[in-house]
Amino acid sequence: MLNWDDPIAAFKPSATDKSARAMLASEALAAVERAEERVELSVIEKNAVSPPATVETPPAVSNESGEVAITGLEDVEFGAQRLAVDDKKMINCRADVNQLVPFKYKWAWQKYLDGCANHWMPQEVNMNADVSLWKDPNGLTDDERTIVKRNLGFFSTADSLVANNLVLAVYRHITNPECRQYLLRQAFEEALHTHAYQYCIESLGLDEAEIFNMYREVPAVHNKAAWAMKFTDSLGDREFVTGTLEADQRLLRDLIAFYVVFEGIFFYVGFVQILSMGRRNKMTGVAEQFQYILRDESMHMNFGIDVINQIKMENPQLWTDSFQQEIVALLREAVELEIAYAHDTMPRGVLGFNANMFEDYLGFIANRRCAQIGLPEQYPGASNPFPWMSEVMDLKKEKNFFETRVTEYQTGGALSWD
Ligand SMILES: [Fe+2]
Ligand SMILES: [Fe+2]
Repeated sequence: MLNWDDPIAAFKPSATDKSARAMLASEALAAVERAEERVELSVIEKNAVSPPATVETPPAVSNESGEVAITGLEDVEFGAQRLAVDDKKMINCRADVNQLVPFKYKWAWQKYLDGCANHWMPQEVNMNADVSLWKDPNGLTDDERTIVKRNLGFFSTADSLVANNLVLAVYRHITNPECRQYLLRQAFEEALHTHAYQYCIESLGLDEAEIFNMYREVPAVHNKAAWAMKFTDSLGDREFVTGTLEADQRLLRDLIAFYVVFEGIFFYVGFVQILSMGRRNKMTGVAEQFQYILRDESMHMNFGIDVINQIKMENPQLWTDSFQQEIVALLREAVELEIAYAHDTMPRGVLGFNANMFEDYLGFIANRRCAQIGLPEQYPGASNPFPWMSEVMDLKKEKNFFETRVTEYQTGGALSWD
């Protein structure tokens, strides 16, 4: 095996390895040709009085009407003017998307740094107490077991759905490098979340086929996933490019559906239920995983809301009255689906609360989401029956929440020593 320190001559294919020799010869030939091209180019550059004429960059993706999308994979335009902050835009940016700096949206870069500082891995959470409790026939009630299984069922596929939406749809249409940098971090975190659910399912010895198929077999789980699918479908359409009022509204609608509804409403019944179990010293390992995930998710949602508001600010023509009414209708529909999920996961009162309390809670959450994207509140008087949830999201305040080290865990490079 080659080592970085080995002299190049140390690698000699054996005389019998004809394919390796042939490959080496063709690579050497290609390298010589590339070197000759570089010499020719450098001679041209030397002799040039002014920068060479710029070549029209071919669009990466265009639709039938000829609108283009910038993906970052277009040709590098030699001699083009240097990038200025004001060239950057959240969508429909025609400037080079391969240059991270100068930053325009410093909040996006900060969220990327914060996300990295909060790095964690599912295997770091001790699941021993959960395994004992789950295997003890008297450890949990049937209702408590339903809550654990339903939520692992919903989340195990929901986070894959979010990751696929990010990578295959959203990423292409957000034309800003610092936001794309955060999207890459978020995509990895979604992979960690799916990993965490799989780790819980495996640790508890659950029926994997039953859990991973819930989104196709249990109506309350299916309805939420199916609701979201139509929004990722349109963004993932390869013919779809932004640049028109209709297309930009479609992108904005889809971003709201995923960041505000899916990650901002559809996750919250499950979070409250599992974290409540942890507060009662039940399934503390699963609860700890969910606590990390909630911290990540609240940052994802806040990032998404900042992106949505930035798009609104840069493209005020998108935020029409009828569009706002449409978004309100989407939010109200989502609240109904989440209420149905609350009833399905807890048909009877359990853990000191019942499904009706979630109706109030979801009204409270929906009001907050409306305010965050500049819509009027929809559920007047809705209150929060779970005030401890807001404290969980700010982990530093919850030092003894589960009496584990989870609460202040950050990667070494991000710790503050003062
Ligand atoms: Fe996630
Ligand atoms: Fe997320």
